[in-house]
Amino acid sequence: MNDVLKNIEQIRSEALKAIENVTGAEALERIRVEYLGTKGRVTELTRSLGALPKEERPAAGQAANKAKVEITQAHKEALEALNAAKVSAPALDVTMPGRRPALGHRHLIPKTMDEICGIFAKLGLSIVEGPEVETDYYNFEALNFPHDHPSRDMQETLFVGDKLLLRTHTSPVQIRTMEKTKPPVWIVVPGKTYRRDDDITHSPMFNQIEGLVVDEGITMADLKGVLTAFASAFFSPDTKIRLRPSFFPFTEPSAEVDIACVLCGGHGCRLCKGSGWLELLGSGMVDPALYGFVGYDPEKVSGFAFGMGVDRAAMLKYGLSNIRHLYEGDLRFSRQF
Ligand code: DAH
Repeated sequence: MNDVLKNIEQIRSEALKAIENVTGAEALERIRVEYLGTKGRVTELTRSLGALPKEERPAAGQAANKAKVEITQAHKEALEALNAAKVSAPALDVTMPGRRPALGHRHLIPKTMDEICGIFAKLGLSIVEGPEVETDYYNFEALNFPHDHPSRDMQETLFVGDKLLLRTHTSPVQIRTMEKTKPPVWIVVPGKTYRRDDDITHSPMFNQIEGLVVDEGITMADLKGVLTAFASAFFSPDTKIRLRPSFFPFTEPSAEVDIACVLCGGHGCRLCKGSGWLELLGSGMVDPALYGFVGYDPEKVSGFAFGMGVDRAAMLKYGLSNIRHLYEGDLRFSRQF
């Protein structure tokens, strides 16, 4: 073998050995510059081939080229191995603390619903549910809203078909339950309700809890007793309530129930607009006309009913300024409860 070929072979084997024993990226880079850089040994070697006698050039050129390809390839593989090690090393670090999965919790609405239903359950009422798509009959007719009567205007209705609608309140479940059960009836009905209202205190989808108690000898005193017990359990132990005359087609007499303002305790403030009271729900004594629809004997039984906005109850209890906070899914809000 002539000197040139020997020299090429020496450079080749030195370079490959150096790359094989390399321990880090910086050392590898130094090797690359030493052999393959613009002034590197392989580069210089290739350049010097022009000075060789003509007959030696092809063999030397071929050998130099082969050496260059092998060194370049070895360098590339070493670099890849170093990078892979860099990525996989932390995964093998068993001493690192684990990543905590983000734990969610219940949203304020179902939480409030459970809380309210729980209070009534302790008072002896059972929980019943009904359909959200409802017929005109259960939502209005059997609740004593006569056809074309202005009382229907109180509830901006979303119709989904002829005589089919999204229930505007949970009251239809009063009829559905009485149809299926003989008295006594002691129930609460939680669920979603729908109306075409949309402002800072109204959302087109909202939640109600209906109450219905029909038994022998039920009077308005029972209504007031049950709701007073509820207000002290849900808000605070000495929360006062008051009944204000009102109108609903399915109760007679009807009453709006207010609680003493949760902010000022009844002295008058901005929240209660100076009145000292906050409106909480609608209620009344079941209108005997309803018993005609379900086959109950109005001479034997009497009852009371009430309907409460859950969103509203949550707003009052937690001092929320805008009902939309409940539906926007903003974690900064939801995490507070
Ligand atoms: N369903 C009524 C509404 O959504 C609320 C209501 C009032 C329910 C009086 C009742 C009740 O059960 O007795 O406007």
